[in-house]
Amino acid sequence: MANDTSSTIRTALITGASAGIGLEFARVFAERQFDVILVARREDKLNEIATEIKAQYGQLAHVIPADLSDPNAPEMIFEKVQEKGVTVDALVNNAGYAINDSFLDSDWQTHAQFIQVLNTSLVHLCHLFAKPMKDNQWGRIINLASVAAFSPQMKGSLYGAAKSFVLDFSQAIDLELRDHNVYCTALCPGFTYSEFHDVMGIQTMVDRLPRFLWMDAHTVAVEGYEAVMEGKPVYVNGIVNQGMTQVMSHLPLGIKQFIAKQQDKLS
Ligand SMILES: NC(=O)c1ccc[n+]([C@@H]2O[C@H](COP(=O)([O-])OP(=O)(O)OC[C@H]3O[C@@H](n4cnc5c(N)ncnc54)[C@H](OP(=O)(O)O)[C@@H]3O)[C@@H](O)[C@H]2O)c1
Repeated sequence: MANDTSSTIRTALITGASAGIGLEFARVFAERQFDVILVARREDKLNEIATEIKAQYGQLAHVIPADLSDPNAPEMIFEKVQEKGVTVDALVNNAGYAINDSFLDSDWQTHAQFIQVLNTSLVHLCHLFAKPMKDNQWGRIINLASVAAFSPQMKGSLYGAAKSFVLDFSQAIDLELRDHNVYCTALCPGFTYSEFHDVMGIQTMVDRLPRFLWMDAHTVAVEGYEAVMEGKPVYVNGIVNQGMTQVMSHLPLGIKQFIAKQQDKLS
């Protein structure tokens, strides 16, 4: 798979690189001759992955431990990157999770941290790193949205709203940046094998879903890489998810609301 980086070693910064889709993004970029900067909270995991990447692909792998629920984290990451004297050419805003409790059963701190990780940190990192990309006239940004951005809302969940924000925001900055050879893709996976549903506490429930609904994290990352290199502002992973999001995008609002209300009957 060609990338247009033949003469220079480029660097990709990936958040949530300690597991799942983010870990696969680290491998996919390194395999395509990018050095990588790995960001997440679990420093031990990141160090293991950095060692693997250096051995397997011969690329540099930097580790920046950070908790993206801390509003100071994006500035701290940007400063650490500058201290290392590295230019970030590709940014993958992948870190994320979902909360299984109802809206009022979770305290405000839980919601505030969720919005900070899924939305505010993502926007802040784009704001910090897109400027040098524009100055260099080359950059690639992948923001992890979800098929949830197209789906009927889940009762009391902020997840669909957070991912709709990512979907819209990513297209907005892509419009501003693409004339400067900086592309931004909102990547929309559906059910993907990772630690996500385990962290959410619903692994047993989703294990019952049919296998055709699932994708592996490596394929999601390869498709995301190819989509951003081709300058696609939105990419839905896999034919099943593409079909479902097409249908959901064309449903009248009233039908979507009707489907959403059926959750009460299922629970
Ligand atoms: N799996 C799916 O079915 C699915 C479907 C659609 C979209 N997505 C999206 O894809 C992205 C990746 O999810 P995944 O499935 O790969 O989940 P995962 O396996 O649970 O990985 C989540 C990653 O996010 C990091 N993270 C979580 N909270 C963080 C925080 N406060 N600060 C820094 N890093 C944090 C975790 O690292 P640490 O714990 O080490 O911090 C981990 O590396 C998410 O944005 C998710 O919403 C997933």
